[in-house]
Amino acid sequence: MHLAFVGTGYVGLVSGTCFAESGNNVTCIDVDASKVERLRKGIVPIYEPGLAELVQSNIAAERLEFTTDLAKGIEKAELIFIAVGTPQGDDGSANLNALWSVVDGIREAATAPKIVVVKSTVPVGTNSKIHARLNHESKFEHEAASNPEFLKEGYAVEDFMKPDRVVVGVRSSIAEKRLRKLHEPFLRTNHPFLVMSPESAEMTKYVANCMLATKISFINEMANLCETMNADINDVRIGIGHDSRIGFQFLFPGVGYGGSCFPKDVRAMIALAKQHGIDSTILKSVDDVNENQKNRLGTKIKELVGNDLKGKTVALWGLSFKPRTDDIREAPSLVLIRELLDAGAEVRVHDPKAIGNVKEIFGEQIVYCDRAYGTVEGADVLAIVTEWQEFRNPDFEIVRRLMNTPIIVDGRNLYDPNAIASLGFTYASIGRATKVATQPS
Ligand SMILES: NC(=O)c1ccc[n+]([C@@H]2O[C@H](COP(=O)([O-])OP(=O)(O)OC[C@H]3O[C@@H](n4cnc5c(N)ncnc54)[C@H](O)[C@@H]3O)[C@@H](O)[C@H]2O)c1
Repeated sequence: MHLAFVGTGYVGLVSGTCFAESGNNVTCIDVDASKVERLRKGIVPIYEPGLAELVQSNIAAERLEFTTDLAKGIEKAELIFIAVGTPQGDDGSANLNALWSVVDGIREAATAPKIVVVKSTVPVGTNSKIHARLNHESKFEHEAASNPEFLKEGYAVEDFMKPDRVVVGVRSSIAEKRLRKLHEPFLRTNHPFLVMSPESAEMTKYVANCMLATKISFINEMANLCETMNADINDVRIGIGHDSRIGFQFLFPGVGYGGSCFPKDVRAMIALAKQHGIDSTILKSVDDVNENQKNRLGTKIKELVGNDLKGKTVALWGLSFKPRTDDIREAPSLVLIRELLDAGAEVRVHDPKAIGNVKEIFGEQIVYCDRAYGTVEGADVLAIVTEWQEFRNPDFEIVRRLMNTPIIVDGRNLYDPNAIASLGFTYASIGRATKVATQPS
């Protein structure tokens, strides 16, 4: 099948490339000319495990190409996917400017009836507006369908190749048939292809993200309560997780969710509910709890070291909003760095993939380190912000020797508090009592 993907970011590039891998001819279109230029050479501008190899092999096989020319890119396409960003607008609702410019561009450039499939996360009811706008004073009868994307950054290729389910919202059997045929190679293990109305498909995407965000804020609030009640959230988490009605997924306490989806989708849902006269009390609390949670590490550092951090050095391990990605959108690390700089601290950071993106924000204000151990040199506190694999089992002897004072504030509960205290560290984590070093340093 000939496919076009408009918007070549995390979603458009991954899905376009995976469809090319399954034998389709895919043209990826983007307004960012320098990105298109790099992609043509096989240089992938984002970090996503396994993606660069797939992009390069599909370019070589002539199944994947990149252009800035929308008209040319959609000419032969049997399905046109829209995967442009839908960032948060000033009032919390989704900003659809990029989406509307693509819809208008398709209507003006189309030389035949087209099926336009919306992968971007858009407010419920948008698909129907797209359908109307595509056909406004058009020579052709175009169709708009919805196909929300559920991939996770860090596992995007894997998730796309083996989805738990595919959801499509369609108005006609032809759109359904084409989308079903396209997804068949990815659903051979009997995972379902779910067909519904465009409104239900749009709602499914928001409800999924709101549910996951709610789980995270819930366990974070419970963790904060554990700290005040001398309970251990890790024991509690395991205690509830074995209840098959509850389970273990997305119930790890931490420093709050970030990324390009949960924060903006929760706020977009709150705004959408408000437009419909509904006060979304649960989701407002989910957002509030999350914003407060991003300050937890800063508060804990000040509790241990003092409010004035002038002359103190804080080392951060992890900057991306989660492991296996370079994405720092709404990352808790950014909130912590700002708070530390405001309090006068010197900040040294390390991340396996996200340093370049953080440099664009903080420039020379902080020190960037290639290695985890180098980061802690002379540090008064080590803060663990992202649970990259390489931070799970460091040589604590080396860490202690390099640090000025052996204090670890762990936002991801990577270590056993008693074991760390016995190695000479004062150790604070989330939802567990702070342990003072039991071995003199
Ligand atoms: N990132 C995720 O994990 C994820 C997961 C599921 C759904 N989504 C949703 O998918 C959509 C895209 O997200 P993303 O993370 O891939 O965004 P992104 O910001 O990484 O990429 C968007 C791309 O669209 C391009 N673009 C903007 N305007 C354009 C235009 N007029 N014509 C052509 N290209 C244009 C940008 O240059 C950019 O390359 C969003 O609605 C998001 O909520 C994202």
